[in-house]
Amino acid sequence: MKDDHNNFEYNPPLDEQVEILLSKLTLNEKIQLLRGKDFWTTNSIDRIGLPSFGMTDGPLGVAYHSSKKGIRTRFPATIGLAATWNRDLAFQMGKAMSEEVKLSGRHQLLAPGINLIRSPLCGRNFEYLSEDPFLSSEFGADLVKGIQSEGIAACVKHFVANNSETKRMKISVEIDERTLFEIYIRNFRRVIEKSDPWGIMASYNKINGVYAAENQFLLQTVLREQLGFTGHVVSDWGAANWTKGVASCIKAGLNLEMPSWSKTLTPKKILKALKENEISQSDIDFALRPMLRTFFRVGLLNDKNFLMNRIPKVIDDPSHQNVAQRIAEESMVLLKNENNFLPFSLSDMKKIAIIGPNANKKFGKPFQGGSSAAVPPFFITPKEGIIKYINNYNKKAKKSEEIKIIDKFDKIDEADAVLLVLGLDHGGNMFRNIIFGVDGDTEGSDRKNFALSEKQENLIHDTVAKNPNTVVVLIAGSPVDIFRWYDDVPAILNAWYPGMMGGKALARIIFGELSPSGKLPVTYPKYLKDHPAHQSQNTFPGDLKAKKIYYNEGIYIGYRYFDKYSIDPLFPFGYGLSYTTFSIRDISCNNEICTKEKPVVIKGTIENTGKYLGAEVIQVYVKAIHSNVERAPKELQGFTKIWLNPGEQKEFRIEVEFDSFKYYSEEKHSFIEEPGEYTLWIGTSSRNLPFSIPIRYINA
Ligand code: BGC
Repeated sequence: MKDDHNNFEYNPPLDEQVEILLSKLTLNEKIQLLRGKDFWTTNSIDRIGLPSFGMTDGPLGVAYHSSKKGIRTRFPATIGLAATWNRDLAFQMGKAMSEEVKLSGRHQLLAPGINLIRSPLCGRNFEYLSEDPFLSSEFGADLVKGIQSEGIAACVKHFVANNSETKRMKISVEIDERTLFEIYIRNFRRVIEKSDPWGIMASYNKINGVYAAENQFLLQTVLREQLGFTGHVVSDWGAANWTKGVASCIKAGLNLEMPSWSKTLTPKKILKALKENEISQSDIDFALRPMLRTFFRVGLLNDKNFLMNRIPKVIDDPSHQNVAQRIAEESMVLLKNENNFLPFSLSDMKKIAIIGPNANKKFGKPFQGGSSAAVPPFFITPKEGIIKYINNYNKKAKKSEEIKIIDKFDKIDEADAVLLVLGLDHGGNMFRNIIFGVDGDTEGSDRKNFALSEKQENLIHDTVAKNPNTVVVLIAGSPVDIFRWYDDVPAILNAWYPGMMGGKALARIIFGELSPSGKLPVTYPKYLKDHPAHQSQNTFPGDLKAKKIYYNEGIYIGYRYFDKYSIDPLFPFGYGLSYTTFSIRDISCNNEICTKEKPVVIKGTIENTGKYLGAEVIQVYVKAIHSNVERAPKELQGFTKIWLNPGEQKEFRIEVEFDSFKYYSEEKHSFIEEPGEYTLWIGTSSRNLPFSIPIRYINA
């Protein structure tokens, strides 16, 4: 802003700018800004030179349908990002997506999706991060930081407790206060505290009978007053349609209704509500302020940064593809590796087979799997990645006989080893998925079966019968039932959905250029009935007649439940094998008496004692020895990932936040600091924690 008299640049604080802009708008203009002009943008106010604010999906890249059919980098599914346990990759992915949002002429990315993975069957698990609020919020926060580092607004979604898709627009999540705050809101709270997101999306579902989009307690009391959120709240697409109406949404703190076909905050209805004194003009200002704040934060008023008129049809950016490849490489989790079956040494091989329904499947068609569908300029399938790798090897190695690829089932007995690539699918277009049903990873519906299809299970048995040297490579965005065939194969590699560079990343892992270093961000049960969300129909998918889903497991989501009831999972949370071996030693703690001012810092040394480049994730879990309330047996409260060459050693450091010792008290309606004895468990998965340090926390 220029001060004409003194001729100096005066940049008033954000809230002052908001008030100035607000004072320039007429009532009708204000009303127009509370809802979408179309599917992805808000109305412009040409009289004062305010352009439209544009949004696009996320979270796997800039989506095709919301970026004028833009071809954009397709990153791995975000459950895979969380499996990297490498925060830096989240920042880099956020930053790369943000650059593409800008080039697409939009101002906000509808991402990250941070809903907790409560059940292996939720159709959108692939777009979320973890079953654990600490891990999920660490990645959520770094994604937000990356996105906003380029001046693009993040939109953390879906607030809150939208952990399944069945009847998502009608269902009420029945949840107790402690669980809501200690688990589900804690996830959002940490993201807000750590990264200050400029936007949040209110979910479709009801929480204890009240829709998120009109939930005054959640949007106003919790989000703004308790958590200090300063951005705007947008409805999920169409979510306000099911609410009680204008007054309810506006007073609750909803700031923007999307998209234009959603018919709650229409000018006609708002004017009627004003006339009938259901709302006042100051309620309109109250609803609009956060939106104006976002307009300033993204620089909407001097929108020179946004190349609205020169939107590239295709973004084919090697630096972004490189980020996608690194995420894919670090996300893959080696679940089983009998007698070091992997990696394959090409010098010993003559023929390698690659078969299976996901071996050559290209993911990334418009709307495939729902709103996250980013369509890439090219897509390297597992088969293409392996073939290219072998061809390069053949050229360089110049062996007397070239290695051959077999892709016909009938010939697999001739191969030295078989890569059997199977798993789940996104189905087709989301709308078709909803109508016809798809037992896969898709928005709009949940999976019906935990097991792979009968056809795929038969294929595993038939393949192994013909050639026992078979690795199963799983392409799936959720846990599947592996226990049914776990004993039949020597190796299992979980590759999630590895994105456009996935085939290249897979080949590098399979042939040992680097070790798998992914760790599970979710628990894999042996049987679905062992899982906390699957204790009855009422707990998942819910009592569909009454339209209620009961979170009866309370705070015992994921591994917390397996620990509490001493159930052995097939693969525990935090688990993942490597080709190399590590030695962890000299674990120490800066102070065994911890206070608010002096947080706990764990230090130690890690050495790569094996033969491959690899990384280990050191995890810290906190256990309360005595407590006034029931506590989860242990909770993840810190981690670090360290890459090491063979023979290399490094020191590591993990800080445990003061917050880690708190619990949520229903009596006091807030988090409580509880002085006393705690144990810090340190190791490489939630069930492999060889080190422990006693801590006393005092209220000093
Ligand atoms: C999804 C959101 C998405 C929005 C816009 C909704 O159906 O739940 O995640 O951002 O559509 O596509």
